[in-house]
Amino acid sequence: MAGQLFALGLFAATGAVAQAVATYDYIVVGSGPGGAPLAANLARAGYPTLLLEAGDDLGNNKNYSEMANFNLAANDEKSRWDFFVKHSSDEEREGKYEHTTWRKPDGSFYVGLDPPEGSERLGIWYPRSATLGGCAMHNGGVCALPSDDDWNAIAESTGDDTWLAKNMRQYFERIETAQYVPPETPGHGYTGYLNLTISDPAFMQQSSDVKDIASSIIKVTGGDVTRDINAADPDRDQSTGVFGLASHADPTGHRVGTNTYIRATLDDPAKYPLTVQLQSLVTKVLFSEDTEEPTAIGVEVLRGPSLYKADPRHNGTKGEVVQIFAKREVIVSGGAFNTPQILKLSGIGPAEELKKFDIPVVKDLPGVGEKLADNYEGGVLALASKPLNGTSGPIAVLLKTPTARKNRNIYGWCKSFSFEGFWPGYPTEYGPAQYECAFVHMNPRSQAGYVHLRSSDPQEPPEINFNFFEHGGDEDLTEMLDAAKIFRKAITSVGEPIAPFNEKHPCPGINQNCTDEAQKEFLKLQTYSHHASSSCGIGPADDKLAVLDSKFRVHGVKNLRVVDASAFPAVPGAFPVCPIFSK
Ligand SMILES: Cc1cc2nc3c(=O)[nH]c(=O)nc-3n(C[C@H](O)[C@H](O)[C@H](O)COP(=O)(O)OP(=O)(O)OC[C@H]3O[C@@H](n4cnc5c(N)ncnc54)[C@H](O)[C@@H]3O)c2cc1C
Ligand SMILES: *[C@@H]1O[C@H](CO)[C@@H](O)[C@H](O)[C@H]1NC(C)=O
Ligand SMILES: *[C@@H]1O[C@H](CO)[C@@H](O)[C@H](O)[C@H]1NC(C)=O
Ligand SMILES: *[C@@H]1O[C@H](CO)[C@@H](O)[C@H](O)[C@H]1NC(C)=O
Ligand SMILES: *[C@@H]1O[C@H](CO)[C@@H](O)[C@H](O)[C@H]1NC(C)=O
Ligand SMILES: *[C@@H]1O[C@H](CO)[C@@H](O)[C@H](O)[C@H]1NC(C)=O
Repeated sequence: MAGQLFALGLFAATGAVAQAVATYDYIVVGSGPGGAPLAANLARAGYPTLLLEAGDDLGNNKNYSEMANFNLAANDEKSRWDFFVKHSSDEEREGKYEHTTWRKPDGSFYVGLDPPEGSERLGIWYPRSATLGGCAMHNGGVCALPSDDDWNAIAESTGDDTWLAKNMRQYFERIETAQYVPPETPGHGYTGYLNLTISDPAFMQQSSDVKDIASSIIKVTGGDVTRDINAADPDRDQSTGVFGLASHADPTGHRVGTNTYIRATLDDPAKYPLTVQLQSLVTKVLFSEDTEEPTAIGVEVLRGPSLYKADPRHNGTKGEVVQIFAKREVIVSGGAFNTPQILKLSGIGPAEELKKFDIPVVKDLPGVGEKLADNYEGGVLALASKPLNGTSGPIAVLLKTPTARKNRNIYGWCKSFSFEGFWPGYPTEYGPAQYECAFVHMNPRSQAGYVHLRSSDPQEPPEINFNFFEHGGDEDLTEMLDAAKIFRKAITSVGEPIAPFNEKHPCPGINQNCTDEAQKEFLKLQTYSHHASSSCGIGPADDKLAVLDSKFRVHGVKNLRVVDASAFPAVPGAFPVCPIFSK
């Protein structure tokens, strides 16, 4: 991350604020894919940098260090921040979400639509990982670059050509160690901190059921299991079919990225000036009293374990208040939910909302916490007629459905597994006959979500509503329906004895007879998501809802940047992690 910031020499050019007690040049808040590489790079460039992280370091715990354990990691209370969100403001629609989570009278969770009496409705569980490395410590590791248009749109709206896709590639090359394409493949890098591999393609050489299904998917959609999904191919955004699924893990399955890069930076014999402080919940940014334009000079922190109320271990502890100052800049990288919360608690946000909570307005910025967006997800999940033998990692399948606007619009991943969204204790296992093509619908037409304060208490999680399908919902759902039809055909055309399949959703049963409307209704009600972004988006100063300029600087505020998923003006591609790393 922030490769671009460095290349532009921006940090060297920034003016310093005189602060007698300032110990660090830069303070970075949050150690996810946004904050961690940035803090490491600043320190490697010689700037004394402090990285503040609310959670602990779990880098040696196998739940996190082994990519294959990602579902265990997301369920592990040692890192969990349990957010409960809404998908819409329509109570009736919300009431039909199958994996709605409730708090039972005994304090434990109930998931479903028929809770025991006296249960409290919490909403839709949206896991976040509060630990050194952020959500890149519990994610699936999927690395997929966005379409060129996703980058170019930022260049177009801001007039800053450094965002053009043709310029952005070099940052990816700089951070990558490609371990799934031959050496010297154009568009790839081999010396960066981000090792990328694909799941072992050798299963295609064996005789097995999962190989037969993969072959049938290839027959229907094209491609092959080793094709490079991040190729520097000018036709890439039109290229569909099967690809190798690239992830940020090394060839032995160890998760790499945020935590490993921080550790490598701390352990380097060069003794880079990086300081990491854990169990540090940043509650607000501090501003100079001597300047007319608001100027960030530091942060206020609560010290202690499990201080945020989304942490399942939180017990009411308040923590110790500390102030820390920066000579140059404060960079907020708390993720799409926490970054807008931190800005608002600091007095940067919609003035009316801040006044409601008696927060003094430092800068009225109506876009903070607005335009929250996420990809829509669904999947064709079915049970084969027999237990499926053979093992394969997931294969990636890109589709461009008939009504797609311009580029391919669906990223699917297929395997003998089940993924139906998130709830405490997810996923449901349906046994060895299960097979699914799960999919992400890219570039949603609507981004009407929001992150609003519930309280001025920094330990209290905000109110989050994605307002899915507000605009262009029917068009997006048609694309999802068409994707489901293609995946269904691809899976079932394997034939007997593996078929017929008993589909779980979106069209249940063996001899299916679902209308398009019924399938769209299912997809709409049960859509899930995990790529939240855009709650503090980049855009020109004359755009009322833009929060950041094209260099990540908060409009109208000095020495304050936001560098994380919230900065993207729209969800980048199918999976945000590699776009965040490389932007
Ligand atoms: C279960 C799951 C699976 C996913 N799988 C994939 C995938 O396969 N591929 C992909 O591309 N994307 C995936 N994602 C999404 C991806 O992981 C996120 O988009 C990405 O991690 C966002 O990075 P970030 O830096 O914006 O924020 P985060 O990763 O959320 O990091 C924010 C960090 O800031 C810390 N923090 C927050 N508030 C404060 C505060 N007040 N004080 C101090 N620290 C604070 C948090 O503890 C956290 O460590 C997945 C997400 C989830 C939830
Ligand atoms: C891994 O996470 C699970 C919860 O998903 C937890 O029960 C287990 O104790 C964790 N393992 C380790 C080694 O922390
Ligand atoms: C990961 O990438 C680094 C940097 O290029 C390299 O030194 C290391 O050997 C790679 N790890 C593995 C296990 O291949
Ligand atoms: C799977 O089962 C088939 C017979 O149904 C057999 O031919 C094949 O060798 C098996 N493959 C594996 C990997 O067990
Ligand atoms: C609350 O949690 C803190 C931090 O884990 C711990 O030190 C403290 O003893 C706990 N207090 C109570 C009352 O359980
Ligand atoms: C499918 O359902 C429709 C409407 O419910 C019905 O008219 C039709 O006969 C059914 N077709 C089959 C093959 O069951």
